[in-house]
Amino acid sequence: MKKIAPSILSADFSRLGEEIRAVERAGADLIHVDVMDGHFVPNITIGPLVVSVLKKLTSLPLDVHLMIEHPDQFVEEFAQAGSNWMTVHLETGRHLKKTVQKIREVKVRPGIVLNPSTPLRKLYPYLEEIDLVLLMSVYPGFGGQSFIPETLKKVEKLRQIIDRHGYPIEIEVDGGIKVDNIRTVSKAGGDIFVVGTGIFRTGNYKKTIERLRREIELA
Ligand code: DX5
Ligand code: ZN
Repeated sequence: MKKIAPSILSADFSRLGEEIRAVERAGADLIHVDVMDGHFVPNITIGPLVVSVLKKLTSLPLDVHLMIEHPDQFVEEFAQAGSNWMTVHLETGRHLKKTVQKIREVKVRPGIVLNPSTPLRKLYPYLEEIDLVLLMSVYPGFGGQSFIPETLKKVEKLRQIIDRHGYPIEIEVDGGIKVDNIRTVSKAGGDIFVVGTGIFRTGNYKKTIERLRREIELA
């Protein structure tokens, strides 16, 4: 079952509770939470405190995307705050296998994220250990950027590898996804689609999510 994950980065933070409930009512499958530290990416967003607030506002799973240096140091805190999925960037380098193990130990589903310029082969040593691969289709840091078309080839290739080996891994794609391109991302083999401005900057979340779902099914 393919899933739509609204990214709250583009929500109205002065009405965060209403925004979360609105996308939940509108048919979202999970809530994508962008955590940025001002080091790994040139922006600062939210931390475990806000994640724990989100947890109280929704029954949807929280998909926590850690764009931070030393993610291993924050696994427990984000788990306690209520993360259901936790993804760490491959580019953060050190101790990645240990970090993934740590995420699993605290009963959260682990995933690895690749920036647009990071080649797929760097992921191969981890494929046995993870439940999710998040392929960035923009450079992380900000919402509202344009989808990088080269991502589609990467999605296709990863789809082939996962299917060939029968890995129980879902492919998530993040950045610049909208009603007019989600079909191609789905066709390439994506399972979970992160959509920020493509939902929150539209007037009617329900209609938008319905349209996104229709496009996914047409793929
Ligand atoms: C970018 C974030 C994305 C972003 C997506 O660093 O990881 O999740 O919020 O927003 P849109 O859909 O507007 O590109
Ligand atoms: Zn994200």
